[in-house]
Amino acid sequence: MRDRLETLADAARRDITVASEVSAVEALRIRYLGKKGELSGVLGGMGKLPPEERKALGEVANQVKTEIEKLLAEALRRAEEAALEAELKGPRLDVTLPGRAVTPGSRHPVSRTMEEIVRTFARLGFEVAVGPEIELDYFNFEALNLPKDHPARDMQDTFYVDEASLGHVQKADSPVLLRTHTSPVQVRYMLARKPPVRVVVPGRVYRRDSDITHTPMFHQVEGLLVDKDVSFAELKGTLDAFVKAFFGSDTRTRFRPSFFPFTEPSAEVDISCTSCGGKGCRICKMTGWLEVLGSGMVHPNVFTSSGYDPREVTGYAFGMGVERIAMLHYRIDDLRMMFENDARFLEQF
Ligand code: PHE
Repeated sequence: MRDRLETLADAARRDITVASEVSAVEALRIRYLGKKGELSGVLGGMGKLPPEERKALGEVANQVKTEIEKLLAEALRRAEEAALEAELKGPRLDVTLPGRAVTPGSRHPVSRTMEEIVRTFARLGFEVAVGPEIELDYFNFEALNLPKDHPARDMQDTFYVDEASLGHVQKADSPVLLRTHTSPVQVRYMLARKPPVRVVVPGRVYRRDSDITHTPMFHQVEGLLVDKDVSFAELKGTLDAFVKAFFGSDTRTRFRPSFFPFTEPSAEVDISCTSCGGKGCRICKMTGWLEVLGSGMVHPNVFTSSGYDPREVTGYAFGMGVERIAMLHYRIDDLRMMFENDARFLEQF
């Protein structure tokens, strides 16, 4: 039995010195000193021994137990130190490091410009209105005094919506299309409200165009002011005020006679070149002027379609292309950049 105790002690010394993890040390403690462990196993037979032998053996057993306990305690300390060491060597949390910056997104130049245009008119007392991008031929053309054979209605220019693709949606009396301008909202707004009217309408418009200076979708801001005795002079004054507020107070305006079916008289508005100030450069093609707006006095037929009496009210309307204004404003020379979503371009705004 004494031999068995010695063998047990040897095995325990060997096992415990090589145990390097806390869990391994704990397993050895259970294996050697546990209730059903090796030492209990050896001592189980002690009861049958004569008393003197039992006493002597008991002393040896106690020595072995004490030694194993000591070895286990040392092994546990070593294992815990090693674990701490490993943790300190690994990835550490350095609370003094500067924070990682979050890169916020930015507004697209077209959105920024559109907001800025709307804000400028808001300061002049205009409210904001919107209308549908999928529109009826009636509002896009008919109600705006565009005769049936007007070239703008041509399939060449307009995206028509295949009525069959509308599915269960109730068929309209009028063909369905993607609006080619924001002007149909003039009619929709007047049908819904009584005069006076003072609104700007930002939104997307669509045309069957695609080349380096035209995209099939682009943005416009429409304006409409209706009241008693509104004059062409007010149109000129308002647009001149807008241009000076938006492009700078030294920007000049020029009104050129033009034609739109829904305004009479009509004018195209040029501004003095934002690049050369009017001396002539590549941007203005040496003319000193840039065309930025279509405008005019609301045609009596448009009032009639909108439920207003043209003998009671007059008004003016205007429309501008947002991409073009954004390009002038930010000095972007290629329209396609607006739609490529290249982060190197977008993050500059
Ligand atoms: N709707 C016209 C266009 O798209 C612009 C315009 C609006 C002209 C209002 C006159 C009045 O070109």
